[in-house]
Amino acid sequence: MTVTDALVEADYDAVADLYDRAFQDIRVRRPEWRWVREHLRQASRDTPQPRVLDIGCGNGALLSALSSQIGSGVGVDVSARFIAIAQQRLAAHSHVTVRHIVGSCLPFADNSFDVVISFLSFRYLEWEPVVREIRRVTAPEGRLLVVDMAAKRASITDLPRLAASTLQHALRPFRDRAFHDHVARLTAHPAWHTMLERHPIRDVDEYQACFERHFPGQRMEILNTTLSKCVFAIDSGHLEQTLRQGRSDG
Ligand SMILES: C[S@@+](CC[C@H](N)C(=O)[O-])C[C@H]1O[C@@H](n2cnc3c(N)ncnc32)[C@H](O)[C@@H]1O
Repeated sequence: MTVTDALVEADYDAVADLYDRAFQDIRVRRPEWRWVREHLRQASRDTPQPRVLDIGCGNGALLSALSSQIGSGVGVDVSARFIAIAQQRLAAHSHVTVRHIVGSCLPFADNSFDVVISFLSFRYLEWEPVVREIRRVTAPEGRLLVVDMAAKRASITDLPRLAASTLQHALRPFRDRAFHDHVARLTAHPAWHTMLERHPIRDVDEYQACFERHFPGQRMEILNTTLSKCVFAIDSGHLEQTLRQGRSDG
């Protein structure tokens, strides 16, 4: 385990229970959840009952919500406390398991998965080695779905989304007081701040450059935005196809 992995694990272990209270149902992240569900549906047209890997699975809430849509699921995470929470949550789903990992190696055979998901965890990963590993463990017709938060100044075209996101945020305490209070407790925890300092939100251009290098031609969608940050999503498309396209373009 590198020093960075150990620090992330310690930070996330410290807030895992608070995080779980806030995000026990992943559907509170409405636009992000809808996007993943829809793109998994599209992937299921190519591969019914897909084998899914969730990198940075946290409390297992995403796999739990997706469990009826998938053939099998594996969640991996660097935080042992999160893995314990996810194990409990997923105990009733015999086709979904979780595993503690350290570093960028994914402990699975080649072509083990049809869909790999990184849901609000990509920024913690070491992109080059992990993308190599994702390509190795994913079937040629498989795909990677990434949802993450990035630094991005809102532009004029973001205005409708900015207005919608601001309204949703303002209504949250009235619509779901318990969720609002759990998020407030989580984000007030000192370990949360330490973690943000160690892993500052990356610029959207960094992601764009990484995705263009590995999945050329794929479009990033903005799901949520504030004046300075956004939540985006990207579907790699068939990995084999994007790799071929990258070779022919290059
Ligand atoms: C913001 S949380 C998101 C958790 C979950 N995907 C969700 O949306 O509820 C980020 C997750 O990434 C995990 N993580 C951070 N670095 C990691 C690494 N190198 N390998 C695997 N997981 C990692 C953290 O432990 C944490 O569970």
